[in-house]
Amino acid sequence: MKPLVLAYCREGFENEAGEELAARAVEILGLRRKPVPVMRANAAFAYLPLANVEELLGLRKKLDFDSLVFARQIAFGFGPLELGDVRDRAAPIAAAALDTIFAAAGIQYNKLAVTFPDNNDGKELTRFAKLVHPAMSKSLGKSGFVAKAGARGLPTFNVFFYDKAKSAMLTWIDPGNSSPWLDGVARLKFPPSAPSRSTLKLEEAFHVFMDKDQRDQLLRPGLTVVDLGASPGGWTWQFVHREMFVTAVDNGNMDDALMASGMVDHKATDAFRYVPKSPVDWMVCDVVEQPSRVAKLAAQWIKDGNCRNLVVNLKLPMKQRREEVLKCLDILREAAASARGASSKRPWQFAARQLYHDRREVTVFASSLIHSI
Ligand SMILES: C[S@@+](CC[C@H](N)C(=O)[O-])C[C@H]1O[C@@H](n2cnc3c(N)ncnc32)[C@H](O)[C@@H]1O
Repeated sequence: MKPLVLAYCREGFENEAGEELAARAVEILGLRRKPVPVMRANAAFAYLPLANVEELLGLRKKLDFDSLVFARQIAFGFGPLELGDVRDRAAPIAAAALDTIFAAAGIQYNKLAVTFPDNNDGKELTRFAKLVHPAMSKSLGKSGFVAKAGARGLPTFNVFFYDKAKSAMLTWIDPGNSSPWLDGVARLKFPPSAPSRSTLKLEEAFHVFMDKDQRDQLLRPGLTVVDLGASPGGWTWQFVHREMFVTAVDNGNMDDALMASGMVDHKATDAFRYVPKSPVDWMVCDVVEQPSRVAKLAAQWIKDGNCRNLVVNLKLPMKQRREEVLKCLDILREAAASARGASSKRPWQFAARQLYHDRREVTVFASSLIHSI
């Protein structure tokens, strides 16, 4: 087994996730040669083998999960452990864990997780995971490797199975530097009164990009929102549900119940021409357009000081998807540097992520207020 960092991603985005890990490793570790990530088509994960344990621990310290766009989750550790068709997987895993992770990192773990990729291979492993978890818990518990129940702040020991559980990675997930969903799959319930499934995209964005205090502050009743490309109203629903006032810009119709709430002003006009009369708390945009055109639109809102926070969804092209996202983030950062109005006094912060509910898309979050909460 080799030291490695593992990224979970959407099926079909392995290259983006792998390239991203390699680029960050070069920056953080100051490597002269770019390490080569392992990226298999439709595996729903990629990983970056590292030269030694020092590199692994260095990356663990400095690789900020929030700086990654295509990784839904990251885990550090060792692999692959080839298990083949062995019947009792718990024993070799416990032995290998003691040999590698525990010795290398000298840390304990407060719980055990069994995860697998978000694709068909992973679906077949759901039942298997339920069976193997108690057996592994027992083997690892005996080794004194897992800390006593109740210990806080410790990593989760995460066994990632793939290839029909013939292979595994033995990793840890750090609680302060990871997705709250262990396998990166955001489990959110669809609210029955929301008019479209898109609503979950925005709800997930609120969870991924903000903590609870930030959500309480930035999504409080009475704040104002412009929703560009709002029809039928899944995103608008998220705000109305929080008693916020929404201007919904779209030639398409808005959901009747949302309009009846009295919280929505529908403008049947072009999102690229609409300018608010006074600055709003949020601008959100889900218009289906070229990503750079959407980024330029958002950049204009920032430059003109017309919003304090924003969420925009970028529909990705077929090729050069990572490059396109980086280009769009540059457009936004440049705009923030020359912003006018109230928002110019505060530094803007940016984050982008391919959310679980995003398909061939990436969601960008930007805020001029979040650093002060
Ligand atoms: C993906 S849908 C939005 C779904 C919406 N966010 C929801 O949660 O229900 C994209 C919307 O953008 C609108 N749209 C496309 N181009 C537009 C433009 N130039 N101005 C305003 N709306 C536009 C479409 O009419 C469509 O309703």
